Amino acid sequence: MERVPAAIADALQRTIEGGGRICVLTGAGMSAESGIPTFRGTHDSLWSRFDPMQLARAEAWCADPALVWGWYRWRMQLVRDAQPNAGHQALADLARRVPLALVTQNVDDLHERAGSTVDAHVHGSLFALRCFACGRTHHGPLDDYVDGQQKVAPLRCTACGDAIRPGVVWFGESLPDEAWNTAVDAATRCALMLVVGTSGLVYPAAGLPALARRHGATVVEINPEPTALSAEADHVWRSTAAQALPQLLAV
Ligand code: APR
Repeated sequence: MERVPAAIADALQRTIEGGGRICVLTGAGMSAESGIPTFRGTHDSLWSRFDPMQLARAEAWCADPALVWGWYRWRMQLVRDAQPNAGHQALADLARRVPLALVTQNVDDLHERAGSTVDAHVHGSLFALRCFACGRTHHGPLDDYVDGQQKVAPLRCTACGDAIRPGVVWFGESLPDEAWNTAVDAATRCALMLVVGTSGLVYPAAGLPALARRHGATVVEINPEPTALSAEADHVWRSTAAQALPQLLAV
């Protein structure tokens, strides 16, 4: 069984003994061991198979809403068929022991299904549906499961009749104000930031570890691969979310 590197165990113990807050920033790697493809880095990642500019932006939606909606329905079904992994569970357990703010770039609901309260979904949520035109939220049932990435005609807004979109932040869109402000507050107030499963390539979220460090936090990266954030981390644990995070509970 993998042991927590001593420097990381020390940082966690100091934070707990000092009554400090932990901020956890997660990315797609957090859900990789649940079978949800990450965006980059591997041969079966999403962006290696799909062009984000053709799917994850408002212009793509306007050009072919059925193509974009079908892709998101497929991703929703992947999440529905997946289970939280031991890493999700460990973060939920850790939050019961120490003050912990959870900030995620992920649009799945696996943290919540593991029992976590997510303080900020900085890139929105797959299941937070709203009308593309009038913004009215949609809580109705989803259409039937789509097998693979087919085109699916989007649901219609009951108020204005326009198409219902997923509540994710598309390229070129700004992050939700409340989620972003919560994330910044968590980063500036924490004594320890755990950065789990993100390539650190997409700003402004990728700027949160440096912000935390500027405010005195110790930054720990948990990722099997080096990333754009590794040089900014005080400590790096080359491990996976589901292998590393449960070990923190034994500290
Ligand atoms: N445990 C921890 N980390 C992992 C694991 C794992 N089991 N498997 C992969 N990783 C790491 C990879 O090494 C990589 O650094 O997860 C990271 C995934 O990087 P990305 O696919 O770029 O995902 P992310 O950083 O969350 O992307 C940020 O980009 O496309 C946008 O909006 C999208 O929120 C997303 C943002």
